[in-house]
Amino acid sequence: PYLIADLRERIKIFHFHQLDSTNIYARKLATAGAPEGTVVIAESQWAGKGRKGRSWQSASGKGMWLTLVLRPPILPRQTTLLPLLTAVAVVEAVEKTVPGAACGIKWPNDVLAQNRKLAGILTEMSAELDMVNFVLVGVGVNLNQDEEDFAPDLLGTAISLKQLAGDKVNRGQFTAAFINAFWKLYERYLQEGAQAVLGPWRQKALVLGKEVIIHEYTGDWAGMALDIDEEGALLVRDEQQQIRRVLAGDVTLRLG
Ligand code: BTN
Repeated sequence: PYLIADLRERIKIFHFHQLDSTNIYARKLATAGAPEGTVVIAESQWAGKGRKGRSWQSASGKGMWLTLVLRPPILPRQTTLLPLLTAVAVVEAVEKTVPGAACGIKWPNDVLAQNRKLAGILTEMSAELDMVNFVLVGVGVNLNQDEEDFAPDLLGTAISLKQLAGDKVNRGQFTAAFINAFWKLYERYLQEGAQAVLGPWRQKALVLGKEVIIHEYTGDWAGMALDIDEEGALLVRDEQQQIRRVLAGDVTLRLG
C-alpha cells in the first residue's frame, strides 16, 4: 500500500513466510522468465546467503529480507555499479524512515551505523555472450532486532534500525521506502549513466579521504581511499604513492 502509484503496476511481489533464501528463489523465477520488477520477500530465511560464501542471519520478522529481479539493458561489466546503487537506496530509506539516523556506506555496499552492520547486499548475475540475462539484487536490512536477537558471533558487529531509532520500525513502510528509492535511482542510472550513482554514493561514503586497509586474496595493504571510478572500483593511494584500483576485496578503516 505504500508503494508509489507509478510502481504498483510494474512491481510484482512474491511474499513468503519462510524460504531458504530469497536469492535462491528469485533465481528460479528469473530462470523461468520472470520479468524485471519481480520482488521476492521472506519473513525468515533458513539459509540466507551473505557475500563470500558466508551465511546471513535472517531472524523471523525482524528484518527486510528481499531480492529484486532486474533485466538491465547494460553490459555485464557495467553491473558493478548496481550494488553501490542499492546501498544508496538503503541509506535513503533509512533516512526517510528514521530522520536523523546516522548511517553510511562502507565500500562497496555495506551499510554501517556506529561502525556496525545495518545492511548487506548480495548481487548475482546471469550473463550470456556478453549480454546480461538477469541480475539478482539481494538486500538484508536489520530492522527490529534487539541486542539479544543477534547470534553471539554478530554481537558488537551488527545493529538494527530499532536500536538506532529507539523504537520499532514498520517493516512494510520501510520496504516500500526502499523499493521506491531503488527504482527512482535505477531508472536515473539507466538514463543518465554512472554519474547518477557516483554523486549520491560519494555523499554517503564512509571511507573516502580515510586511511584504509585493503584485504585482497593476495594479501593486505594500506593506503588512502581517494574516490570511486565509473565501474565502482575504489581508488586507493598506496604507501608507495601509487594509485591502485580495487575492484574486489574488502576494506577496513585504519584506526589509530
Ligand atoms: C553480505 O554478506 O553483506 C550480504 C548479505 C545479503 C543478505 C540478503 S537477505 C536477502 C537476500 N537473500 C539472501 O540469501 N541474501 C540476501
